[in-house]
Amino acid sequence: MLRTHTCGELNLSNVGKNVILCGWVSTRRDHGSLIFLDLRDRYGITQIVVHKKESGKDTYNITKGIKLESVLKVNGEVRQRPENTYNEDMFTGKIEVAASKIDILNESKELPFEIEKSEDVSQDLRFKYRYLDLRRDKAFKRLKLRHSVFTLIREYLSKQGFLELDTPLLTKSTPEGARDFLVPSRIMKGKFYALPQSPQLFKQIYMVAGVDKYFQIARCFRDEDLRADRQPEFTQLDIECSFINEQDIINLVESLFKYIFDEILGINLQIPFPRLSYKEVLEKYNTDKPNLSKREGEFKFIWILDFPMFKYNDEEKVWELEHHPFTTPKIDDFSMLEENKSSVLARSYDLVVNGVELGSGSIRIHQRKLQEKIFELIGLKREEYESKFGFLLDALDLGAPPHGGIAFGLDRLIAIMSGCESIREIIPFPKTQAGVCQLTDAPAEVSDKQLKDLELKCKSKENLPFV
Ligand code: AMO
Repeated sequence: MLRTHTCGELNLSNVGKNVILCGWVSTRRDHGSLIFLDLRDRYGITQIVVHKKESGKDTYNITKGIKLESVLKVNGEVRQRPENTYNEDMFTGKIEVAASKIDILNESKELPFEIEKSEDVSQDLRFKYRYLDLRRDKAFKRLKLRHSVFTLIREYLSKQGFLELDTPLLTKSTPEGARDFLVPSRIMKGKFYALPQSPQLFKQIYMVAGVDKYFQIARCFRDEDLRADRQPEFTQLDIECSFINEQDIINLVESLFKYIFDEILGINLQIPFPRLSYKEVLEKYNTDKPNLSKREGEFKFIWILDFPMFKYNDEEKVWELEHHPFTTPKIDDFSMLEENKSSVLARSYDLVVNGVELGSGSIRIHQRKLQEKIFELIGLKREEYESKFGFLLDALDLGAPPHGGIAFGLDRLIAIMSGCESIREIIPFPKTQAGVCQLTDAPAEVSDKQLKDLELKCKSKENLPFV
């Protein structure tokens, strides 16, 4: 280890000890023969004091010219600060380290913005230098919150017998209502993988495999218009169980959220959460995502049940589905699907918190005949659904148990927990409205050789004047 301690752990009990700290120069105050540095790492800040005489000429000279955010290794002795200079707000606020030697591990150049003032600069600049932005206490706390939420989910669900299992990223289209991000295959010319909009079909296949209880903290990709609560690449908590009904999923989710909010925020969520049918919520609030926190104050969860199965697209004169096509309709017999589509309800449930749709799920169709029927009702021809979803239909035919599940937007959850307006602040490396990663400048052009290997040609590129 380069260091003996972190910058957040020394106090009066360490006075007299020789220590080595490593960290970033967060502030520098020059009083002539005496220079104070605040040395920062993720654990805290320790004041370093450099005396012209006591610390030696070299150390003093290094400190004199040091640029903010340079990375230092400081050897020194822990001393008690004069009592009138105690900083009661900091764990290390009663001590300082009198430096005897300072090594510059890496000198920083002039900063594009001051770390602690990064909230005042444009988002573009902040996200271009996201690593500087993340050094800010508030931004770093959000990373820690993200870690804590992920850890508690894993702990809680594993204890309940759930298996955390992954699913492919290079896969076939999973219809969740957005456009796919496509990846061309080099070997199978003219064929494309789609990045998953969700792990929906694979988690159902896991149920057919007998997994019984599955979860995944899953990365999903959707090419859709971006908003404050939408990113092209986001993270879901994805859950699926066999031999359950709506109530089982609702109970599981309520106790999971109660646990997370209690452990992290010390908030005692009242469960069960209120439940309204789609019809009731529209009548009462005129929206299916009511913000009850406006009326009743801090986190207000509400379940919306009994969504209509179908909605009519007036422009294209076709029936579409309210949720994805794997949702079970509430029907006594197939004739209801033919004769009375508008009154058929779905076995689905949405969880809304503070006006934001946090999660959505359903009991799935587990029999081939009904699944084929639903595909047909939304206008898919047999060849079409066989080619897109034949593997699922085959699995439904080979002992698929009754099953259901749900998925939550974890970025949305963490944004709500930390009071952030936009999930861009919660995602460590987010994208702009145009889908650009400002840190790396993705998406980027690729070489002609790469295009040739894929037998692809960029039409728009041909029209550019400089090509
Ligand atoms: P759905 O499409 O409703 O359901 O997605 C579940 C949850 O994921 C979050 N979410 C998003 N978060 C950030 N950016 C986005 N672009 C984005 N899109 C969705 C939302 C949403 O509620 N497979 C089904 C779930 C299931 O039936 O089990 C699904 O993905 O919080």
